[in-house]
Amino acid sequence: MRVQVLTENIWSITLFCSFVTGFIIIASCVTKRRRRYFRHHRLVDDVHHLWPFDEYLIQPTLCNVCSSTLLTGFQCSSCGIYLHERCIRPARRLFHCKHMTSEQEQIQHQWTRGNLPLDSECIICRRSCGAEPRLCDYRCIWCQRIVHDSCMRALPIECDFGEYRRLIIPPNAVVSRTGNKKLVGYAHSVVERILPCGIDDWCPLLVIGNRKSGGANTDLVLNSFRTYLNSVQVIDISTISPSSILEWCNSLPDIGFYILVCGGDGTVNWILESIENTTSGIKPAVGILPMGTGNDLARILQWGYGEDSAVDVSTYLKKLMTAKVVALDRWSVDICANARHFGVATASARHMRMSNYFSVGCDALVTLNFHRRRDKIPEFFASRFVNKLHYFHYGTVDTFLKECKDLQNNVILEMDGRIVENLPALEGICILNIPSWGAGVRVWGAGENIPVQQIDDGFVEVFGIYSSFHIAQMQVGLADPFRIGQARRVKLTLKRRFPCQCDGEPFEEGPCVVDIEHFSQARMLMNIDIK
Ligand SMILES: *[C@@H]1O[C@H](CO)[C@@H](O)[C@H](O)[C@H]1NC(C)=O
Ligand SMILES: [Zn+2]
Ligand SMILES: [Zn+2]
Ligand SMILES: [Zn+2]
Ligand SMILES: [Zn+2]
Repeated sequence: MRVQVLTENIWSITLFCSFVTGFIIIASCVTKRRRRYFRHHRLVDDVHHLWPFDEYLIQPTLCNVCSSTLLTGFQCSSCGIYLHERCIRPARRLFHCKHMTSEQEQIQHQWTRGNLPLDSECIICRRSCGAEPRLCDYRCIWCQRIVHDSCMRALPIECDFGEYRRLIIPPNAVVSRTGNKKLVGYAHSVVERILPCGIDDWCPLLVIGNRKSGGANTDLVLNSFRTYLNSVQVIDISTISPSSILEWCNSLPDIGFYILVCGGDGTVNWILESIENTTSGIKPAVGILPMGTGNDLARILQWGYGEDSAVDVSTYLKKLMTAKVVALDRWSVDICANARHFGVATASARHMRMSNYFSVGCDALVTLNFHRRRDKIPEFFASRFVNKLHYFHYGTVDTFLKECKDLQNNVILEMDGRIVENLPALEGICILNIPSWGAGVRVWGAGENIPVQQIDDGFVEVFGIYSSFHIAQMQVGLADPFRIGQARRVKLTLKRRFPCQCDGEPFEEGPCVVDIEHFSQARMLMNIDIK
C-alpha cells in the first residue's frame, strides 16, 4: 500500500519535473529569440530600418558588406542595402543610411552599390545597368537615378530628388528638437518643424498607416514608401498621435501638404478629424490607399477598393502627383440621450463626425453583429475575403430576426425642421453623404426624378430600408431604396434602443435625439489617373 503510494508519487514527481524542464526550455528559446529580435531592432533604430526576408527574391542578390550571395537576411527599407545577419555590425561602420535631417545646404547624391532592378538603365549612356553577377553600378537613394561606375563622373554632384521631388521632404528641411544631425529610425517625436524648401509646386507628402489595425501588410506598404521618401514622411500612428504630426503642417501654413492614409475608412476619418482639430493654415489634402473592408470613400475618390496584392509604390506616387483636390462635406453627429436612472434624469452626449453615412436599424445591426463576432473570434476574421462572407452571412440571418421591426413607429424623422409623416413600414433609415454605401453599392442612383447626389453640395440624402432582404436586393441592384429626400440638417428622435452606425462604426443607442448637421469641408485627393 505504502509502496504503491510512493511509486505513484514518484511518477507524478517525475512527470511534474519533466513538465517544468520542458517549460523552461521553451521559455528560454522564446526569450532568446526575442532578445535577438530586439538586438536587431535596437541597431535598426540607430542606423538602418532592417527587415528580415526569406527566399522570395526573384533575382540573385548580393550582400552589400561581404559581396557574397544572399538567400535569407535583412534589407534596409530606407536605403535598400541587403545584408547577412552576421554582416549587420560591420554595416554600421560602412554605410550611411538615408538621414532624416541634414544641415548641409546642398544635398548630394547618396549612392548604394549593386542589387539594381532587372531592367535598369544608366541615365548617362542609356545602356543597361547592373547586369553583371557582382556588386556593380549605383543607385541614388534619394532620386533613384541609376548610373554605371564609369559614367558617374558625368553627373552633377548635387541631387535634385528626381521624379518625385514634389512629394519629398529634403533632409535639410527637417528641424529636430535635439539638434541631432544624424536622426534616423522612428524618431518622429523629435521632429520640431519643417522648413520651406525651393522645390517648385512642392506638396510634401505624409504617408500614414496604423500597424495595430493593419498588421504585416501595413508594414510592407510603409516600408516600400520609405525607399522613395524621407523616412520622416512615413508614419505609423500606432506609435505617435496624428495631431503631433499635423503640427508640422502648421509650421508651414502656406504649403498644401498631401497626406496618404493607408487604411480603412475608420483611419481616414480619424485623420480628417485630427486635421479639423489641429490645422490652422491650408488643410492638407488627403488621399487613400485602401486597406479596410468597406472602403466606400476610397471607391468614390477612385483609389480602388483595397486589392490584396502588393502595392506598386512608384505608381501611387505618380497618381498622387496628378491627383485632383476635391471638397468633401463633413457632418457632425450629436447624440443626446435623456435617460432616467432610479428616477433621476441624466443627460449624456456623444459627438462624432461623419463623412460616409449614418444609419439606424437593420443595416447597422448587420455591422454590429459582425463586429461582435469578430471581437469574440478574431482569428476567423483575419482575411478580407472571409470578412465579406461573414457580412453576407449575417445579412441573411437577420432576414429572419425582425429586430428592427416597426422602426417608423419608434422614430421621428425631421428634415430641415419638418417632420416626415406617413413613413411606410421600415426597418432602417440611412443618411448618406457619398454615393457608395455598404462596400460599393451605388444605392441612391440617378435618373430623371432623382435629385443629383454630390459630395460637396451641403446636402445629405435620406432613404429608408424595408428589411434586410431589401438590403440584399439593393446590393445586387434589384431594388431601389425608399428615397425620402435631401436635407441640410437631419434630426432623428429614437423612442427606444436601436442599433446605429456611423461610417461603419457600430453601436447601440436610445432613447435619444440624433442631430446631423453640416460641419465643414475636407480637402480630398481624387485619383484621375485610372488605368
Ligand atoms: C477633436 O476635438 C474634439 C473636441 O475637443 C475631441 O473630442 C476629439 O477627440 C478630437 N478628435 C481627435 C481625433 O483628435
Ligand atoms: Zn554579408
Ligand atoms: Zn539603410
Ligand atoms: Zn540623387
Ligand atoms: Zn552608363
